[in-house]
Amino acid sequence: MNQEHGQRFLLELPAVQSDLPFSPALLPRLFRLTDEDGRSPLEAIAAAIAEDQGLSSRVLAMANSAFYGFQFQVGSVARAVTVLGLREIRSLVLALGMRGLAARRPLPRGFALPRYLEHQFAVALAARALAGQTRAMAPDDAFTAGVLHDIGKLVTALYRPDDWLAQAALVAREGIPWHEAETRHFGLDHGLIGAMVLRSWNLPEELTEPINWHHAPETAPSRREAAYTIACADACVRVLDGEESMAPVLETTAAALGLTARAALQLAKKSLAARDPGQMAAALA
Ligand SMILES: [Fe+2]
Ligand SMILES: [Fe+2]
Repeated sequence: MNQEHGQRFLLELPAVQSDLPFSPALLPRLFRLTDEDGRSPLEAIAAAIAEDQGLSSRVLAMANSAFYGFQFQVGSVARAVTVLGLREIRSLVLALGMRGLAARRPLPRGFALPRYLEHQFAVALAARALAGQTRAMAPDDAFTAGVLHDIGKLVTALYRPDDWLAQAALVAREGIPWHEAETRHFGLDHGLIGAMVLRSWNLPEELTEPINWHHAPETAPSRREAAYTIACADACVRVLDGEESMAPVLETTAAALGLTARAALQLAKKSLAARDPGQMAAALA
């Protein structure tokens, strides 16, 4: 319908990074194994976060939130990085980045941010549990990719609210899945949009590729098993939320990972019982 319009949107996505609540230069530093001073990844990340006052206080607030439930006060960024670990702190900073985007512009009516965030964390938990079982991708990468997997939807809602509303209307009118409405409207889906945004933030392809293909894992040119992991986690969470129409997707994505739908669902359920994605979303709000 608006293919050209969609292509133009892709070209504008690198500009999204100027709306991050911290310097975009921080992001590649989160993924470097050592920095120029030869510090360990933990020390280097702690130092990078500590340079930014606003980010430091948000990281501390999150580390002390009910979601982590530590019995002690986390008093410094260095301590937060030590108790949370490298992978968790990456996910946390990226989640804060994603949350920060949503604070810069109004969201269209009908986009429920708390629900969106809760879904992201639920898929992150389920994806980590699936990856722990299947080893289809590193469990911590699965968590981070889960946190970010639908960021393309958020970016569309923020930067192209009229298109987002048109897609919502298409979903309501025709009862088609959201990513299909996007493809019909734009010629691309939120997986690709999200991957393009995250590539421009210099995130590694272990994260961007599974996000790119999470609604079409069978066509992923690389890291296909990782794409199946995110797709299956998304299907599990949506089935658990009562979305019956996701049952066939759950079936095929679980099978691709060598699991039965039942086993995948059990893993997801267990991970969601152990940690509360709603608490994480609330802590970010
Ligand atoms: Fe999605
Ligand atoms: Fe999703």
